[in-house]
Amino acid sequence: MASTSVNTSAFGLKDASLIRAQGYINGQWVDAKEGGKIQVTNPATGEELGHIPEMGIVEAKEAIEAASNAFKTWSKTTAKERHDLLMKFYQLMRENDDDLGRLITLENGKPLAEGKGEQAYSASFIEWFAEEAVRTYGEVIPAAQGSLRNVVIKQPIGVVSILTPWNFPSAMITRKLGAALAAGCTAVIKPPAETPFSCLALVELATRAGIPPGVINVITTSANVAEVGKELCENPIVKKISFTGSTPVAKLLSGYAATTLKKVSIEAGGNAPFIVFDDADIDAAVAGAIACKFRGSGQTCVCANRIYVQSSIYAEFASRLAEKVAAFKVGNGLESDTTHGPLIHDRAVQKVEKHVEDALARGAQILHGGKRIAGPGTFFAPTILSDVTSDALISREETFGPLAALTKFETEEEVIKLANDTPFGLAGYFFSRDVGRVWRVAEALEVGMVGTNTGVISQAVIPFGGVKESGLGREGSHGITEYMNVKFIAFGGLLIPASLVAIFVDGACAPGGILIASAR
Ligand code: SIN
Repeated sequence: MASTSVNTSAFGLKDASLIRAQGYINGQWVDAKEGGKIQVTNPATGEELGHIPEMGIVEAKEAIEAASNAFKTWSKTTAKERHDLLMKFYQLMRENDDDLGRLITLENGKPLAEGKGEQAYSASFIEWFAEEAVRTYGEVIPAAQGSLRNVVIKQPIGVVSILTPWNFPSAMITRKLGAALAAGCTAVIKPPAETPFSCLALVELATRAGIPPGVINVITTSANVAEVGKELCENPIVKKISFTGSTPVAKLLSGYAATTLKKVSIEAGGNAPFIVFDDADIDAAVAGAIACKFRGSGQTCVCANRIYVQSSIYAEFASRLAEKVAAFKVGNGLESDTTHGPLIHDRAVQKVEKHVEDALARGAQILHGGKRIAGPGTFFAPTILSDVTSDALISREETFGPLAALTKFETEEEVIKLANDTPFGLAGYFFSRDVGRVWRVAEALEVGMVGTNTGVISQAVIPFGGVKESGLGREGSHGITEYMNVKFIAFGGLLIPASLVAIFVDGACAPGGILIASAR
């Protein structure tokens, strides 16, 4: 049952029983031991959506124990059994597309079309990893000694801690959980306090699909997040951490994980360059910039953060971009004509304000927007700044808001230098119709993912992740192996007929040496 502190009918879901407002430990929906609650609000209206439990270290330990017990049996299920359960989970997700998309919009604010888009993206991770479960092949490696056979197998790593952000309330969970479950791992999830309901609805569906108690556990927390995060990363029972969020938190959590040398997957901050060369299709580049910069109102790690445009097309690109942005309709994502929603909270609005003020003080000009939009809700007007300098805050750190910062450049060499002048390296984009340049620039950008002539790269099938301070490891694609240990097994003592045993020469230890002894 959903907690009585949630008015389920206000969510407007077809299936109100998808609304869960408790943590989930060992197959039970539970409140916080100390009874604390966290308020969750709709960022588009400022209205309360409901409350979830303020759990702490005691519940985190319980969840880890439950996951550890469940691992004993879950890790022994066949890949086909896990595939079938995950496909059932996937089907249930798709049957509830409308409700799950709406939940994302209610708690995150993104327009309903984007909420449903995230829902489809989220489900695609479960489908993809269901299919990966049955392909975690091992290897047979030709041995260096005739008496041996070398075999490599992959085994589930154990209990996994999953810590996710609010910008993709559903997809960042399934990207990790799908891989973990498919591999045979069990999980403790800490969803963000801002957007817990999508996570809890997913767990409800996973349970309906038949995923056994203890395999998935959820700890909801806000005020206790520092100590819960530490426990989830330091507890020796936990064998792997998967985190998506900011680079400073990623560094903190990896430090905790290092105390027991846990395997870590991290997708951290970005500061993506978006480059438009003078040989580009300008309309395509403008469309790419809109999709890349303003998806989620600029609250994605792969968002264009610095837009570099070659000088001969700069004015034309800027005016066409401004024309498109002027047509945006900012508002409540549930309204059908809304194209762009709010930011998650006031702190996010303040950060965009700070970046705008700083850029203006360094000589940038406003081409569009530039201000917060009065509440209710936490909105910032989609903004375009021109002549942004490379020492501006926005050039150095990720804004995470609807602010397109344009900078002019002259040469390919100059722009590559500018693009790579950052400690971050998640995604990078550029538009050019010169095939030689496409290869050169794609290879030169210091990022984990490149979009050439596209502003949208995200799919379950790609190796998603960054270099430099943007992350460790890759998710999606073959990311299931990040949840598995590789074990080498040497099969020795093979008897080879004496007639085939190699003759020793020069007293060297040669193939067959062990066999000579046993054959005699
Ligand atoms: C992110 O912003 O962290 C993820 C974006 C994506 O998967 O497209």
